[in-house]
Amino acid sequence: MSLINPKILAGAIGVAILMGGVANAQAQAQDPIVIKFSHVVANDTPKGQGAQLLQKLVKERLGDKVKIEVYPNSSLYDDTKGLNALLTGDVQLLAPSMAKLGEYSPSVQLMDLPFLFDDMEAVTRFEQGDGGKQILESMQDNNILGLAYWHNGMRQLTSNEPLIEPKDARGMKLRVEPSDVLAAQINELHAIPRKMAFGEVYQGMQTGVIDGQGGNTWSNIYTQKWNEVQSDMTESNNGVLDYMLITNAKFWNGLPDDVRDTLDDILAEVTESVNSKADELNEQAKKDIIAAGGTEVHELSPEQVKAWRDAMSPVLDEYRDEIGSDLVDAAQQSNTAN
Ligand code: LMR
Repeated sequence: MSLINPKILAGAIGVAILMGGVANAQAQAQDPIVIKFSHVVANDTPKGQGAQLLQKLVKERLGDKVKIEVYPNSSLYDDTKGLNALLTGDVQLLAPSMAKLGEYSPSVQLMDLPFLFDDMEAVTRFEQGDGGKQILESMQDNNILGLAYWHNGMRQLTSNEPLIEPKDARGMKLRVEPSDVLAAQINELHAIPRKMAFGEVYQGMQTGVIDGQGGNTWSNIYTQKWNEVQSDMTESNNGVLDYMLITNAKFWNGLPDDVRDTLDDILAEVTESVNSKADELNEQAKKDIIAAGGTEVHELSPEQVKAWRDAMSPVLDEYRDEIGSDLVDAAQQSNTAN
């Protein structure tokens, strides 16, 4: 005869299963939401620093609920693969240069137009206005939600020959980001645009696959060590390299309200920090490049700047309608502080 009453045994098993279920549910409830943030630049750049600050503040304020994992230097994806991963839910945050987003929204291409903004203050004024808001929301049909604009800086030309006048670029193979608008500018110089992932540029310069590149920021140029493989740089300010912090809209809208609200507050703080420090980081990188030697940095006279602007300007008319004439006008007006 069994010493254990089968009814008691069944009851005990039932309780044990229930308790196990409760423990499991508690463990699941405690698992933090993981947000993977992939990017392609070094930590010591405006975006790299922004990603680290975001990770730190989220740990401090939402540590039990949210964990940010940062993957810098193309260590997880390059930008093209990163965008696909954002759509499939394999990564939740990216901050690509807007030159990478043209295929998702024609209006984003505005930021690639040559000599559109006089300086980063004008970029800020535009982004904070209606036009900036419109572009931030322009990819929702693709399930991409723009959360903020993060600055890097103005674009500078580099090569292995001095680029002082537009005709100096004739025939050169110049790397551009995967943007038709950026490629069109290089075509206007009678040079050859080469669309290439960021992480491949150093080797491209080293092996002569490209002669130079058609515009990037001092902080990117220095942290990617392009100054080791380029003899000449031109302070051309021929465009702006700015980022949009983006997420998968379904993922973001599905977050618990309190978590999303706190993340929004943290993002506002990080954005303020990135945008107030970007100029300084770029200025320092320019000094570091000059101090490292081996590269000549050419400054242009106002007449020389005008010659580059005139050479590239047909691109504005070419893309004005596709981007939206109102947006182009609003961007140009942002050059005058009101
Ligand atoms: C580039 O590809 O040159 C840039 O978009 C890289 C970056 O993220 O700044």
